[in-house]
Amino acid sequence: MLTSRQISGRDVSEVYVAEFLKGKSIAITGAGRGIGRAVALLCAAEGANVVVADYGVGMAGEDPTSEVADAVVKEIADAGGTAVAVADTVTSMEGGARIVQTAIDNWGRIDGVVCVAGILRERMLFNMAEDEWDPVVETHLKGTFTVFRAAAAAMKQQQSGTLIGFTSGAFAGSVAQANYSAAKGGIVSLVRSAAVGMHRYNVTANCIAPIARTRMSANVPMELAENGEPEDVAPMVAYLLSDAARHITGQVYTAVGGKIAVWNQPREVRAMYKDGRWTPDEIAARIDSTVGQERMAMIDRLEAMRQAAASGEKPNA
Ligand SMILES: NC(=O)c1ccc[n+]([C@@H]2O[C@H](COP(=O)([O-])OP(=O)(O)OC[C@H]3O[C@@H](n4cnc5c(N)ncnc54)[C@H](O)[C@@H]3O)[C@@H](O)[C@H]2O)c1
Repeated sequence: MLTSRQISGRDVSEVYVAEFLKGKSIAITGAGRGIGRAVALLCAAEGANVVVADYGVGMAGEDPTSEVADAVVKEIADAGGTAVAVADTVTSMEGGARIVQTAIDNWGRIDGVVCVAGILRERMLFNMAEDEWDPVVETHLKGTFTVFRAAAAAMKQQQSGTLIGFTSGAFAGSVAQANYSAAKGGIVSLVRSAAVGMHRYNVTANCIAPIARTRMSANVPMELAENGEPEDVAPMVAYLLSDAARHITGQVYTAVGGKIAVWNQPREVRAMYKDGRWTPDEIAARIDSTVGQERMAMIDRLEAMRQAAASGEKPNA
């Protein structure tokens, strides 16, 4: 790929050799739109052979069509890359297996899977119906498991591979998306379990918490303090899939615009002890001055937003 840049006010042309993922065999779910599509296009541009897996559904998971995955395969082929479409749902074990098997059938191995597929059905907890809970948890959490499961078996044989899940900052809590938040928290735990379980087989597992302008983020009812494009998220995914990132596992990375940040690992922060069993009244007498609680910053932010809205200002997230 030929690029041109300015050095000391002069145009300097240089050849950028796109081979960060040269020859790798990578399957990406949700690759038909938004962030998944940007990841698929970049992986192909960096020399990977790509399975474009997308069920082609509406934002709530409705009306599947194979045209969405086919369109991205065509985009990649038109740009000189190599890709194959799979229009299955990630929610079935057969779908997850087929996505991984398609890579193996075409290119002999599976070097990386990236589980981006997702849907939204927003509702306050006290109004949420079973058919709003189940499909969201099934698409995000089970849909990551089905692909990880199939890939992990093949990667154990290969003694190499990369598993990437997609979480969200909402895993830390969300007002009207308990289903989505719970699924995204589950993905973080699934990724950490994959990291510890697959470490001895030279397989890494990491999570991306993205923010980007897509149809999914378009209906957030407030201005986001940080935002960017799907193409801003893709390079971190490509890096994690590459040989340069073999030492990285069990991590959650935010990727938004020009920002990349790492999340902490959960751990106990304070403890109190007694010889033998506590009674409830003993706990009541001691806990505030010792263990206390870790305050949710989100509750403070929501309170500030409520006050801003009450005084007629546009709330910021
Ligand atoms: N956009 C953001 O700001 C943001 C923020 C946090 C997390 N995320 C996460 O990033 C991921 C991508 O989000 P996006 O904004 O690009 O969404 P998007 O709606 O643009 O794309 C999601 C894709 O997933 C596909 N899909 C849905 N259900 C599927 C299924 N059962 N099987 C296979 N494919 C299926 C859809 O057809 C769609 O093409 C999601 O997991 C989302 O939760 C996005």
